[in-house]
Amino acid sequence: MARAPRVGGRTYHLLLSPGDVPRYVLMPGDPGRVPTIAKFWDVGRELARNREYVTWVGKYKGVELAAVSTGIGSGSTAIAVEELLYAGADTFIRVGTTGALRRDVRLGDVIIGIAAVRWDGASRWYAFPEYPAVAHWTVVRALVEAAESLGVRHHVGIVASTDSFYVGQERPGFGGFLPQWVVGLVDSLRRLNVLSFEMESATIFTMASIYGARAGGVYAAIANRETDEFQPEVGVEDAIRVANEAVKILASYESN
Ligand code: URA
Repeated sequence: MARAPRVGGRTYHLLLSPGDVPRYVLMPGDPGRVPTIAKFWDVGRELARNREYVTWVGKYKGVELAAVSTGIGSGSTAIAVEELLYAGADTFIRVGTTGALRRDVRLGDVIIGIAAVRWDGASRWYAFPEYPAVAHWTVVRALVEAAESLGVRHHVGIVASTDSFYVGQERPGFGGFLPQWVVGLVDSLRRLNVLSFEMESATIFTMASIYGARAGGVYAAIANRETDEFQPEVGVEDAIRVANEAVKILASYESN
């Protein structure tokens, strides 16, 4: 059997060795959000940086954790999950942004994902399509408790993960390109009670379940597809605060 490529014992992409990261990892897509997450920590430092992957380790309210960017979409995210498991992680919390499908989800609200529609590419290599992309119940519970304790307006439900921000989320591509099969996608998902689009959770949730790890996701609604509003960064800091606080809550479950 082929072996996973390592460079001097470190993973090829994230440049991490076993024991480099603690069990809890927050996962934004954007490398620039890693130091923003660490802004709320007691201490933190950059451990590694390569391509879209920036890794910080530190402590939040006394609990060791890491923040690692995944890049956008499932391909780079699956690499991050594989290499983080090797480096010592077992609990993944995606912290990102999302495009809400319903009017009652206001811009800046936070969504907590319990499951993801698997319209990503990478998870197909891991499991047949009927295999669910579900968050771990303890992570969901910790995220909900965190949002409640911080007074952050939140919604809990199913998200849809696609690898395509434009056409795959029924936004016209260049020159108005929109193939027939995506016309009506937003409305169909709405009827299925899916709360929003994002791009990485299906991969993280599926892989975490397969590997006996845990995952969850918290996302700031920066777009609303019913009202056609869009405001970058709104709610992002709230989603980050909820994710950090959820780590402290998870650690408290473990110590009881
Ligand atoms: N992320 C997405 O994937 N879609 C949006 O509309 C906003 C953020």
